[in-house]
Amino acid sequence: MRILAIGDIVASCGREYIYNNLGRIRSRYNIDFCIANGENTATTNGITPEIANSLIDSGVDVITLGNHTFSNKAVYNVLDDNRRVIRPINYPPETIGVGTVIEDLGYTRIAVINAMGRVNMEPIDCPFRTVEKELERIKDKADITVIDFHAETSSEKLAFGNFFDGKVNAIFGTHTHIQTADEQILPSGTGYISDVGMTGVMDSVLGVKKEIITEMYYTRRRYRFEKAEGVVWFNGIVFDIDHKTGTVNSVERLRFSRIPE
Ligand SMILES: [Fe+2]
Ligand SMILES: [Fe+2]
Repeated sequence: MRILAIGDIVASCGREYIYNNLGRIRSRYNIDFCIANGENTATTNGITPEIANSLIDSGVDVITLGNHTFSNKAVYNVLDDNRRVIRPINYPPETIGVGTVIEDLGYTRIAVINAMGRVNMEPIDCPFRTVEKELERIKDKADITVIDFHAETSSEKLAFGNFFDGKVNAIFGTHTHIQTADEQILPSGTGYISDVGMTGVMDSVLGVKKEIITEMYYTRRRYRFEKAEGVVWFNGIVFDIDHKTGTVNSVERLRFSRIPE
């Protein structure tokens, strides 16, 4: 089976790109299952019920979140009502929503787990121990397991990747909005990339107007972020997995604006 993971989709430009193109991308790359990070899909960051529904209608099977999970109050309705939207599992146990979803495709059961790193991020429970416990809980409930590890540094991501190498089928990083070129099959067989990168405006910083971010770093003043507009690029990764054995055959990084022929 072929699983597509899409990194942070940013604001209306990123959303529109997915609404208009995901169907064709799915058929171009023979995708069976699609996971997308939706933490920046709302204009104010976070996600709303309307956006979650539109992404799912466009072909996203599971939506993951991150440090912007609670940036938009509408997320409470999303996490209450839509089981296909998950938030980092290592928030305190009392936090609303869940960090894992298991989808039964008939021929296989796929678990998606969302976790968040702790380096340069908000204080949160240990992602290693929380996910370790969760894998124990779901071990007889899922055949294929994929993790979105939402974290800032490649060192924490690669440590997490190696810690769970051979225990899950694929791990992809999100959050930095910059794609890394380190896609690989780790020694014990887990498909891995440190960061998938964003689907958002190319000529921007993180999908925000670049002048604002540049000025912020130059002056150290706080500015109100405005989303950039312009040509969007799509950043994703395809894991080709034998669903009977769990073997990862290939990891293919995608990065384009116009879908390749
Ligand atoms: Fe993030
Ligand atoms: Fe993000």
